[in-house]
Amino acid sequence: MFQSTYSGPKATIGGVLMDAPSKEFALAGSLEELKIKGRLVVHGGHRPILVIYDRGRVFALDNRCPHMGFPLERGTVEDGILTCHWHHARFDLESGCTFDLWADDVPICPVEVRNGDVWVKTTFTHADPAAHWHQRLANGLAHDLGLVIAKAVHGQLAAGVPQAEIVRQVALFGAQNRDGWGVGLTILTALANILPVLPEEEAYLALFHGARRVAADCDGEAPRRERAPLGSRPDPAALKRWLRRWTNVRHREAAERTLLTAIAAHFSPAELADALFAAETERAFADTGHSLDFINKAFECLDLVGWQHAAALLPTVVGQMVAARGAEESTAWRQPVDLVALCEESTSELADLFAAGRGSRDWSGHAALAQELLGDDPARIVDALKEAIRAGAAPADLGQSLAYAAALRVARFGNANEHADWETAHHVFTYANAVHQMLTRIGTANIDTHVTAVRGVLHGAMALYLARYLNVPPARIPGDGGEQLDDLPADPETIGAALLDAFDRQRQVDLAARLVARHLTLGHSPQALIATLAHAVLREDAGFHAYQMLEAGVRQFGAWGDTDEGRHILIAVARYLAAHSPTERASLQTADIARRLMRGGELHQEAGSS
Ligand code: FES
Repeated sequence: MFQSTYSGPKATIGGVLMDAPSKEFALAGSLEELKIKGRLVVHGGHRPILVIYDRGRVFALDNRCPHMGFPLERGTVEDGILTCHWHHARFDLESGCTFDLWADDVPICPVEVRNGDVWVKTTFTHADPAAHWHQRLANGLAHDLGLVIAKAVHGQLAAGVPQAEIVRQVALFGAQNRDGWGVGLTILTALANILPVLPEEEAYLALFHGARRVAADCDGEAPRRERAPLGSRPDPAALKRWLRRWTNVRHREAAERTLLTAIAAHFSPAELADALFAAETERAFADTGHSLDFINKAFECLDLVGWQHAAALLPTVVGQMVAARGAEESTAWRQPVDLVALCEESTSELADLFAAGRGSRDWSGHAALAQELLGDDPARIVDALKEAIRAGAAPADLGQSLAYAAALRVARFGNANEHADWETAHHVFTYANAVHQMLTRIGTANIDTHVTAVRGVLHGAMALYLARYLNVPPARIPGDGGEQLDDLPADPETIGAALLDAFDRQRQVDLAARLVARHLTLGHSPQALIATLAHAVLREDAGFHAYQMLEAGVRQFGAWGDTDEGRHILIAVARYLAAHSPTERASLQTADIARRLMRGGELHQEAGSS
C-alpha cells in the first residue's frame, strides 16, 4: 500500500526527501486551497483523483467509488473514514481498504506537498499486478463478491495471466470449499471448454460467470474434508470392482478412498474414466443424468487445469455418484415396459457382440442409428444398438449417435409442450453428450473390459425413448431439403444481429432456428455463429442448463462439422436458448461496471455534477 501523508512544510515519501515531483505527478493545487476546501479533484488524461485534507494529513485516492464508479468527492470524512455518498460504503482514508466488502477497496496514490503545493502521482500500479489480482480473486471467491470477482478476472487477464491459470485457481477453490462437485464447477468447466472459440471480451465474461457461479456454490457451504488413499496398491480390476461395490451400497468414504488409491497408483485418465463410468452406470440415468454429466465435467476440468490436481478434483464427484437415485427406482422405467430389465439382458450380450464386430473398423452408420434410436419401440431400439455393435461400431460411435438423436429431440421439440419439458429434452441431450465424451476418453483399446460402460448408451437410449412425446407433433427443422429461407437476411452480420434480436424477445424459438439454418445453409462461418450463440448466453443471467446446452452443442457440432447433422445440433442449441431468453442481465451489468472501472474511465460524471 502506498502511504500518502503530509506532515509539515517539507514532505517525504517513504522517508526520502524528494527534490522535485517526477513527470508522473500532477499539481492538485495549493495546500492552502486544499485546507480551505477540504478536498480537490484532479482531472486529466488519467483517472480522476480525489485529494483530501484531514486533520493535518493529505490523502489521494481514485475518485471513482470502487462499488459503482460514482464520485467519492461527494462522500463524508469522519474519524479517518470516508463514506461514499451513494450507497454508503466506508473506506479507511489512509489505505483505501473498505469496511464493506461488497464495495471493494479503493486504489490510493502517492501524494507530495512541496513549497506549499500538493502533487499527486497519476498512475495506479501494483508492484506485481498478477499476484495482486490473484489475491483479489481469492477474496472475491471467499466472500462471493461479484464485483470483486469481475475486477480480479479482468485484472488478471490485463496482467497477462493465462486463462487456464484463472480456471485453475477457481476450480481448486471450488473443490476445496464445497463438499462435492456442483453446478458452479460444471458451469466453469463448460465455459472454459469453449474459451478457444470466444473473442477476448467474451472470454472475460465467460471466466467471470464461471467464477461467480463457483463462489455462489461455495457460499455458506461446509468445506471439503481431506481423505487419504489406502496404504496398499490393489490391482486395477479390484479397484474397479470395489468402486462399483461401494457405489451400490452408497458407501461414500469407501468409494472415495478407493478412487484416491487408483489416483495414487497413477491410473491413466482412461482407466479412471473406465472405473468411474462402470460405477456410475450401476444405476440407470442417475439423478436424471446430472451425476454422469458432473463426472465427465470433472475429467474435462482436469484436462484444462492439469492432471496433477486429480486427487483434489476427481473425488468431489463421488458423493453425488453414490447417493444418486437411479431411474430403475421410478415407475416410468418399469411399466408398461421394464426398460431396466431390457438393458440388463442386453448387457450380458455385449462382450460377444463386440467380439463379432471387431474386424470392421470403418463403421459409419451414426446418422442412421440415431434415427433408429428415435423410434417408439424400446426392444427395436436395443436391437439397433446391438446390430451396430455387431457391424463394428465402437462404444464412442454409439455415444455419438445417441447424442445426435438427443439433439434432434431438442431441435424438434414441439412448441405445444409445457415450458418445463424443455428440461426433459435437455437432460437427455447433456447426458448423451457426457456418455459420448466418456466413451471417447475410455477409448477402444480394451473393449472387452469396457463393456460395462456401454450401459450408459443403453440407459441414454431408454431416456430418449421415454422423452418421445416431446416430438409429438415434431417441430419442423428449417434448412432441410435445400430450403433457402429467402425471406431472411443473407449477410452473416445481419443474420447475427437478427438472432440476438430474437433472443431479446420471449419465445422466438422458431425464428432463432430459421436464422441458424439460414446462416449455415448460405455457407457462412460456423465459428461466427457459435460466437453469437455464446454471446447470447454470456449476456444473460443464464440458468445452469443453458451453459450445459451451449457447451454440449458446441462439442457435438465438433464431432459432425458443418453438415446437416451439425446444423441440426446448433438449431437445437438456438431453440433451447431462445426458449430461455431474455433474462434481467444483472451479471452483465456487474461485469460491465468492473470493466469500465478497470479501464480507468470516468463513470457517472453526471452524478458528480448534480
Ligand atoms: S457505495 Fe459508492 S457508488 Fe455505491
